[in-house]
Amino acid sequence: ADPGWAETTDVVVIGSGVAGLTAALHLREQGLRVTVVTKVNIDDGSTRWAQGGIAAVLDPLDTPAAHANDTEIAGVGLCDPAAVRVLVEEGPVRVRELMRLGAAFDRNADGSLMLTREGGHRADRIVHAGGDATGAEVQRALHEAVRRDPWIKLVEHALVLDLLRAADRRVCGITLHVLGEGAEDGVGAILARAVVLATGGMGQVYASTTNPLVSTGDGVALALRAGVAVTDIEFVQFHPTSFVTAGVTSAQRPLISEALRGEGAHLIDEDGERFMVGRHELAELAPRDVVAKGIHRVLRQTGADHVYLDARHLGRDFLERRFPTILASTRAAGIDPVTELIPVAPAAHYASGGVRTDLYGRTSVPGLYACGEVACTGVHGANRLASNSLLEGLVFSRRIADDVARGLPAQADPAPRPQGPAWVVSESIRADLQKSMTRGAGVLRSADGLATTAKELSDLGDERSAPRKAAWEATNLLTVATALVASAATRRETRGCHWREDFPNAADEWRGHLLNMIGETGGV
Ligand code: SIN
Repeated sequence: ADPGWAETTDVVVIGSGVAGLTAALHLREQGLRVTVVTKVNIDDGSTRWAQGGIAAVLDPLDTPAAHANDTEIAGVGLCDPAAVRVLVEEGPVRVRELMRLGAAFDRNADGSLMLTREGGHRADRIVHAGGDATGAEVQRALHEAVRRDPWIKLVEHALVLDLLRAADRRVCGITLHVLGEGAEDGVGAILARAVVLATGGMGQVYASTTNPLVSTGDGVALALRAGVAVTDIEFVQFHPTSFVTAGVTSAQRPLISEALRGEGAHLIDEDGERFMVGRHELAELAPRDVVAKGIHRVLRQTGADHVYLDARHLGRDFLERRFPTILASTRAAGIDPVTELIPVAPAAHYASGGVRTDLYGRTSVPGLYACGEVACTGVHGANRLASNSLLEGLVFSRRIADDVARGLPAQADPAPRPQGPAWVVSESIRADLQKSMTRGAGVLRSADGLATTAKELSDLGDERSAPRKAAWEATNLLTVATALVASAATRRETRGCHWREDFPNAADEWRGHLLNMIGETGGV
């Protein structure tokens, strides 16, 4: 798409969750002009849905080494130890900064931070807010700070399309489609000395996900189109406990935080058996992939679409105080966890892979940075540890600003022909794509299932459309789904959240990363 208009800033940040807004605030500390572009409204990304909290070493008896150890065990041999060290050592400082900015975390009667535990953690190190509304509080604090700064320009209802590159291939801006301006008139450009991708995840490639509707993999799709290195995208984390309720019409399912299990809730099958006991030393609090697999096995045996979470023994007072968000969503659907079992099943939750970065958020292309869920910094490996995601956004967005502080080149002129998708698919493919991905590339995968899904995705690519926002989103979904399936088919082992029925064990020769690169072809 050729931009009809252009404006200029120093750094353009794409995305307005924890990673994007934190990056914008730190970049402002360098005295730079910042434009934040977001697809819908500023608060509509995944951050505000986060329940459990932020993992960081804030207890004097806990250590960064212990946090690193838990992170690396969860990541099953694929974490980058240097990136993990950065995460656990810088995390506590970044959380305290967030508190100074105004984020209020829950406290004990003596004023100390209330810390909880989630799957895979061997210590209580998770701060939370509003009981189980941590993301909403983080988003509120960052949103208000961004609004207070007149030098951060916010562009809402704008879908990023592609990167602008200078003659030397350095990224020098983006093209975007601003809604409300018509399918063609709305295409514009923002020229910038650096671009930060913070577009979040891709959960909407599946039929059931905890991610909001906006999580369509836009950043990874853009990176793939532009020949930017993307890695580990076969490692899609399925959250063990999404709420299964009749009448859900969108792919987004309510989350039932791991913190509920952290506070003592049990997973049981239809006979009331705690099926995770004996499967792992941490039982219900095993790393997420282990619990999701445990549930999936029960579902396969019984043919049911859910197991149950039993929180009744935790008592009304505690549940209402500690988990108001969860109680509101389950009670709205007619289930009261105080007296009833909660039906739960795994749902796509988090992309452990993404656009590959170094320890300063630099991607494989000069001038382009990435942070948050869209990035693959190396901290998650084959499976992200619970509550490390908000933390990663806080830590690595700051490091991007540190790198930018070393100096940015002058604004370059974009090369004459900006990239754009060579073609756009119809938004009508979205539901079929999601179903095909859930069938063939979901919790449990096999060569046959992946091959069938690859063929179905290829057929869906024939459904062309005029370029409009929903069609671009569908194109992005198809782009990332196709790359994900290719990686999942290539990785012939089971590791972390990549579970292959036909290759049930981890294999040493696969202890490495798969790189997804389409190249600058402009197509899927
Ligand atoms: C949860 O509250 O269970 C989600 C936390 C996370 O995704 O890290």
